Amino acid sequence: MIKQKKEVVFNERPIGIFDSGIGGLTVFKEIRKVLPHEHLIYLGDTARVPYGTKSPEVIKQYSEINVRFLIEKGVKVVVVACNTASAAAIAYLHECFPDLLILGVIQPVVENLIKLDQVKKVGIIGTATTIHSNAYQRAILEHMRVEVFAQHCPLFVPLVEEGIVDHPLTMQAVDYYLSGLKRAEIDTLILGCTHYPLLLRPIDYYFGHRVRIMDSAYYTARELKKILSERHVANESHKSGEERFFVTDSAETFRRTGELFLERPLVAIEHV
Ligand code: DGL
Repeated sequence: MIKQKKEVVFNERPIGIFDSGIGGLTVFKEIRKVLPHEHLIYLGDTARVPYGTKSPEVIKQYSEINVRFLIEKGVKVVVVACNTASAAAIAYLHECFPDLLILGVIQPVVENLIKLDQVKKVGIIGTATTIHSNAYQRAILEHMRVEVFAQHCPLFVPLVEEGIVDHPLTMQAVDYYLSGLKRAEIDTLILGCTHYPLLLRPIDYYFGHRVRIMDSAYYTARELKKILSERHVANESHKSGEERFFVTDSAETFRRTGELFLERPLVAIEHV
């Protein structure tokens, strides 16, 4: 008898999520909140992190490899859960994979920013590559007449990964990087890096709770939910979605730091 391979119904295929490392778990966490029944596959390119200091050309190459890996795993959609990769490579990925639904983290937050009233001065913070790519700045200025202030904050990523959050060192770094935005009296701040949601409290405190803070992970997850439903490709199952994590470097290091991000134990991490 010929063995037949079981066809997985398209809607039941997993959602692929990739990031340069662990930071994309902030996006993963938001996706899990709004889409509890979807199967999720996360790829953290931990062997090549950080992307935030690398050139757009290199990030394009890495991102293409990451998407190919997720396609092999049979995903129905790819979320580029990395601001740097979204800034440097999203257009390239759309060109490489015209038939695949690929969602980055920049467009969802900018689309929500546009809908808001009383926005006059917008701050954007991210990695050096994200800020220098001008991707956020362009996306905003295409749609709104506002002043944009962009600042890269390279020390934020290691601080978060070391778990140094409610600490005087973090407040010093926040002051060092954000004093210019404070002086400029921004009314809205976009957290344009996967790690920054973990610094929400010190940043909000620094601005005296007077600045509207927008987290790209939050808006990306909600946009993804909307797209899956509009395209009729959501998983209609009522069971909890399964999760698999793949990393390109040590699974143990990813597990330890990843638990800080997810705020729950991380299991099923495979090295690739
Ligand atoms: N995931 C990256 C981002 O959101 C931050 C870490 C890195 O530099 O790779 O921009």
